[in-house]
Amino acid sequence: MNELLDYFQNNTGRVIHKWMHYFEIYERHFSRFRHTPVNVVEIGVQNGGSLQMWKHYFGEQARVFGIDIDPACKQLEEPQIKIFIGDQGDRAFLRSFAETMPRIDILIDDGGHRMSQQIATFEELFPHIDDCGVYLCEDLHTSYWKSHGGGVNNNQSFIEYSKHFIDYINAWHSHDPERLSVSEFTRSTHSLHYYDSVLVIEKRPTERPRHEMRGV
Ligand SMILES: C[S@@+](CC[C@H](N)C(=O)[O-])C[C@H]1O[C@@H](n2cnc3c(N)ncnc32)[C@H](O)[C@@H]1O
Repeated sequence: MNELLDYFQNNTGRVIHKWMHYFEIYERHFSRFRHTPVNVVEIGVQNGGSLQMWKHYFGEQARVFGIDIDPACKQLEEPQIKIFIGDQGDRAFLRSFAETMPRIDILIDDGGHRMSQQIATFEELFPHIDDCGVYLCEDLHTSYWKSHGGGVNNNQSFIEYSKHFIDYINAWHSHDPERLSVSEFTRSTHSLHYYDSVLVIEKRPTERPRHEMRGV
């Protein structure tokens, strides 16, 4: 049984708005943080229901931080839930937010879903995610929508932008250092997980991969 899905389906708290296939993804990447002193950041508060869901799921030691552009969201604060008002496309705001955070273990981007917002948020906050933390960006289908600054094969889209991540994690094997060399992203990223509308990045310090031959 997926406990997050169970919580969602029986929710009597504030309204939560999620695509149904996201619950399996959350469980897969977030369950290891349950009942630990995890710091969870979600961009996009709306009614506040998802922040309550994270609080319930991660447990008493968790601290949940919401970011939203709508000042009314500030009223949705409660014990373990703190809300920052600001624009995720505003890099100065994101930098000042990052300075106030002792550590980010999980970052969920469920905000405005525009390309410029997702890219600014990734570039400013990914480096602040803990060494073994998780980045999750939702609703990537907007990368295929002109209304949100995307479009199929539009190189301004977040999907096209993130396709370079595949090269970056494989940079250890590049024979062309001018075009591809080991970067901080390479050294700090363990894996990329693409799902319908979702990208999850698992951070973990990595070293040059090595291979061995064993046997007789
Ligand atoms: C999809 S809703 C969030 C839903 C919520 N996470 C849930 O699961 O129930 C998107 C939210 O992002 C906020 N938003 C839109 N543009 C934003 C921006 N540029 N910066 C921060 N928040 C933004 C909206 O005000 C809205 O509350």
